Amino acid sequence: MNRRNKLIDLEALAQRSHRVITSNQTPSGAYPASPAFSAYRGYCWFRDGAFIAEGVSRYGDAASAGAFHTWCARVLSDRTGHVDGLIARAERGEHVPAAELLPTRYTFDGGLGSDPWWDFQLDGYGTWLWAVSEHLRRHGEAPGTDDAYIQKGTATAVRYLNAFWDRPCYDWWEEHDEHRHLSTLGSIHAGLRAATSNPALMDALSDAERAAAAEALDGIGSLTAEGVADGHLTKWIGTTDVDASLLACVEPFGLVSRTSATAEATVRAVEDQLCVNGGVHRYAADTFYGGGQWPLLTAFLGWNHAVAGRREAALECLRWVAEQATDDGELPEQVDHHLLAPDYRQEWIDRWGTVATPLLWSHGMYLVLATELGVAGNGSAGAAS
Ligand code: BGC
Repeated sequence: MNRRNKLIDLEALAQRSHRVITSNQTPSGAYPASPAFSAYRGYCWFRDGAFIAEGVSRYGDAASAGAFHTWCARVLSDRTGHVDGLIARAERGEHVPAAELLPTRYTFDGGLGSDPWWDFQLDGYGTWLWAVSEHLRRHGEAPGTDDAYIQKGTATAVRYLNAFWDRPCYDWWEEHDEHRHLSTLGSIHAGLRAATSNPALMDALSDAERAAAAEALDGIGSLTAEGVADGHLTKWIGTTDVDASLLACVEPFGLVSRTSATAEATVRAVEDQLCVNGGVHRYAADTFYGGGQWPLLTAFLGWNHAVAGRREAALECLRWVAEQATDDGELPEQVDHHLLAPDYRQEWIDRWGTVATPLLWSHGMYLVLATELGVAGNGSAGAAS
């Protein structure tokens, strides 16, 4: 296949990705994580959704991303009283059990649902603040975005993170709630920075909330220094292992300066230890569905290559992701060409069915990387719909 045809294929998958995402977006604005997958059906995650919205917003569909951000802001606004109650208890010195803190996923009408989950995760709220800030910078108050809700939701998220940012919690992979994870800290740091520096959001905050956010940012900065080993960021504080989610601590979150030695060493360590034949694993001890390679993480690697000026390497990542699409142009959560723990694969299939496909976060990350590389975007959303 010549280069031109390959580029057309890459663009077609961007159009398809946009369609997969928007055709599954609910009337309420939520993005389902994976519409048909047994364990995710009926739920929207702040983490997945924020990155999906970033891809859709970059692709030029301001209305879809705006509707998602408004949905998140409403979910949070509806819980402002609950959050303020939690904060008051914490300020009185009471231990607030994790089960009473905000969940990681919601039903499409903003409810909690009745399925048990590994719920206490803080990263999604930081990632949402970062993503809504990026969206407003890019598109302003475009159709679909309800400013009153965005302001209230922003203030609620900031107060929540200011109060609880230093609690150990489950990570991006909903594991190890006994640890403090660098990618979680990176998400919170990016969110609080965005909310306190973007003029479209910062007016939602009182002086006291801005001051508390500054303190939290300092605290995260100090903790980050403890999460470095062999020159790179670590999966959690106290280990030397890496995790591919650390890529986000460089681009887009900038927890460490993108040009620092720590950033370079982190991207290199993830690539050296977790990238096999072009596809990125989550972490070395992963057993979920046998521990395959994740398209969305390969897109994060590509994003990091692209912003560091390694365009060819970034394009390789985009091509690898595109090659994982099914004949229908759907991207899965993970693929099984290279498994770290093959013996565990069947056990997950028996439990939850075959790998989640399509996973909307995979499509969202494809859009992020495709637009970063100029393979898609600049108004493509209109043409694609
Ligand atoms: C992943 C999470 C993700 C969720 C929904 C889980 O298996 O570990 O990162 O948010 O699926 O896609």
